Amino acid sequence: MKKPGSASNPLWFKDAILYELHVRAFADSNADGIGDFTGLLGKLDYLQELGVTCLWLLPFFPSPLRDDGYDIADYKDVHPSYGTLDDFQRFLNAAHQRGMQVLIELVMNHTSDQHPWFQRARNAPAGSPERNFYIWSESKERFAGVPIIFNDTESSNWAWDPAAGAYYWHRFFSHQPDLNYDNPFVLDEMLDAMRFWLDRGVDGLRLDAIPYLVERDGTRCENLPETHAIIRTVRTVIDAEYSNRFLLAEANQWPSDVRPYFGENDECNMAFHFPLMPRMYVAVRQEDRLPIVDIMQQTPAIPDTCQWGLFLRNHDELTLEMVTRDERDYMYLAYSSDPRTRINLGIRRRLAPLLDNNRDRIELLNSLLFSFPGTPILYYGDEIGMGDNLDLGDRNGVRTPMQWNSTSNGGFSTAAPSSLYAPVISDPVYGYQAVNVEEQRKNPSSLLQWVRNMIGLRKLFAVFGRGTLRFLNPANRKVIAYVRQLGDESVLCVANLSRFAQPVALDLAEFDGRTPMEVFGYSAFPLITAQPYSLSLAPYSFLWFELQAAIAADAPGPADAEQRPQPNTQRVLATNPSPESSPATASPSHPAVEVHDAVAAKSVLLHAIPATPQELRQLISSLSQSLVESSSGLGITLAFPLRDGESNAPAIDAELNHASSNLLLAPYRASAALRQSWPYPASGYAELARLAAQHNARAVVQLGRSPTLSSATAQISPLPDTTSTATRAC
Ligand code: GLC
Ligand code: CA
Repeated sequence: MKKPGSASNPLWFKDAILYELHVRAFADSNADGIGDFTGLLGKLDYLQELGVTCLWLLPFFPSPLRDDGYDIADYKDVHPSYGTLDDFQRFLNAAHQRGMQVLIELVMNHTSDQHPWFQRARNAPAGSPERNFYIWSESKERFAGVPIIFNDTESSNWAWDPAAGAYYWHRFFSHQPDLNYDNPFVLDEMLDAMRFWLDRGVDGLRLDAIPYLVERDGTRCENLPETHAIIRTVRTVIDAEYSNRFLLAEANQWPSDVRPYFGENDECNMAFHFPLMPRMYVAVRQEDRLPIVDIMQQTPAIPDTCQWGLFLRNHDELTLEMVTRDERDYMYLAYSSDPRTRINLGIRRRLAPLLDNNRDRIELLNSLLFSFPGTPILYYGDEIGMGDNLDLGDRNGVRTPMQWNSTSNGGFSTAAPSSLYAPVISDPVYGYQAVNVEEQRKNPSSLLQWVRNMIGLRKLFAVFGRGTLRFLNPANRKVIAYVRQLGDESVLCVANLSRFAQPVALDLAEFDGRTPMEVFGYSAFPLITAQPYSLSLAPYSFLWFELQAAIAADAPGPADAEQRPQPNTQRVLATNPSPESSPATASPSHPAVEVHDAVAAKSVLLHAIPATPQELRQLISSLSQSLVESSSGLGITLAFPLRDGESNAPAIDAELNHASSNLLLAPYRASAALRQSWPYPASGYAELARLAAQHNARAVVQLGRSPTLSSATAQISPLPDTTSTATRAC
């Protein structure tokens, strides 16, 4: 019997939104200055509200922490600073209950020199299996020419061990000896560690530094066939014993060298796209799409069941190993004028400082992240535009405490500031007083709200995670345009990489007769014809269009486009599915929401149940703000359910009309079927459909309320298990 995972769909990771975080940096529950699992547990509401679906935890195992935990001293326990195994399990269960998956690290390549295996090896007789857990040599000449990765700190890949009287091999820090996969006992131990966590229910493993598992004389000791054989064994064990888990390869290599890590879907399910990442930054600085288009064209096809992992920033430096020498020089020039930002072959900065805290550029790069083929991965803190601290050594400057509010230590910990594992950022621009979750939650135009909306929107289009990508080739190279396609769903993305407004003419002849529906505001753009399609783009702006098929031929022949019957444009957004509305129990038939002549409709049905008047006010104000903004000032009607005993909502009305003059409110009365947690009975969905039609709504926004949450929230995400089908109009 295979052990099931928490996700119901084996390819769930293709539709996931990953969020990378460090337990130590997230939230401290016991005032020792170090984040822990109990602290993280307390922040799950926040993560759920943000809409991310899978949490990637950096190493949390016992470790001397000389490489922030990638130097593991025990594979099968939790570092005491972060809690206990039970704390971990509580966190994992709670994440699963909320429908979130969890990805952890499997550091196969090396251990800490404090690991008992290494201590045993140094003292074991040369040639014994115990000694041969690691790789030894009499001389430093063996494997000559293999590059040094941490070239700021290390001058050789060999280090002398006096107890063994020999050198040991290390691709990273000298306190991280590489394990020897020519010794079968090593793989046995690693599989044992892997099963330990998979048995507890983790949903995925990131295979750290995977290209370096096996060494051979006369090679670069990277990507060797023997290394791939080890990975295939790992995958075989997973496939035989577990279901719905996934392996993510960290292979910082050229696309053609990463491709083998997917194998024929018999190695990793996902791999990071390292070369794409720096090229997004180059493209924006050079105002030229070429670097991106070029690397995507060099990216080989991967099996359908596999996926790229896309990211803008992570816990490491922005690595420049996978760019040409020219591109590297350019990146240093453009992005690291301060020499302190350079480390190894890269730049140690967070997203916001890299982009000069320019909101338009931050949104632009995120738009690429969210619309390119692959699974987007966010780095904690980047959703609020956190800064970095160049005074901290190594890569620690981008690993500072999460900024929750403007109280001391940014709400991360109640310990004395001097006992935090790292100081919280406190400069005037990025400091916790100015940049924090609490403020941004209140502010409808904050980066946090924007990211939340982006995540919600992205989840409505299966095409982003699963579809094909094709670039268009407009003459203006400052504009990047591409079509994502999956079945009959086509989305056109157009982005202006320039700091100035740009015109573009796109050849969309193949979509002749379709209507481009701008997906943020659901505004219909002029019909596509065989002629070049012209658009004007504001600086750093981007547009995504759903290319909606023309109505069937038997529709009454309209004289002009205005009268042409429009296809249905309905998409249903929803929030915070309550734990019990798991895919297993969700009604397969919902929601039968139908909107006629949807394009003409300008209203939005806001279905918020059951919210207090105050919550409702807050929800409406944050939602309406973004809806108004995204619809270029069109009038919007927000309909919302009345509470028992209420006859109207004059207070809310007055307040909101004051805040936004083109907003009309239309309270409605919801039946009992619509006043419970999801999933509704079929009659509930029918009622929603009727209400939507009655209010001429072009979209239904459901604001769910989970019994485990202290308040209802305005985050937008699809209904559970209905992403591809039920969010569409019938
Ligand atoms: C990976 C990790 C990095 C770590 C290195 C050595 O590259 O991302 O943080 O230092 O492996 O374990
Ligand atoms: Ca703690």
